[in-house]
Amino acid sequence: MPTLTIEGHGTVEVEAGKRLVLAIEDAGVDILHRCGGWARCTTCRVEFVAGEPKRMTRAEHDKLESQGNLGAFRLSCQCQVAEGMVVRPLMRLSETDMEDPGSRPADTIEPRPEWLG
Ligand code: FES
Repeated sequence: MPTLTIEGHGTVEVEAGKRLVLAIEDAGVDILHRCGGWARCTTCRVEFVAGEPKRMTRAEHDKLESQGNLGAFRLSCQCQVAEGMVVRPLMRLSETDMEDPGSRPADTIEPRPEWLG
């Protein structure tokens, strides 16, 4: 299984293709996902230290582009785990005054992915 390193938290083994936001949360990190994984809120944002995927869903691309954030960070709800990823979650529940991280995203990427790149 691929290894995923979450900065400040450690390295975990994760099944290939798992939604990155769920892999981070299931590793015990309180990452936000306020829209439930629909590429709308951008609170699941991460920086890739290594292993950034080249392909991107159209939903992620369009959301990042609309806010001028293409190249600044990625949406972990729109990425799938692959070997060698090292990520830095950028918005965590414990760093906000919110009461919950948002509803748990589905196991598969939503909206149905149209892959670019
Ligand atoms: S954009 Fe909202 S959870 Fe990813």
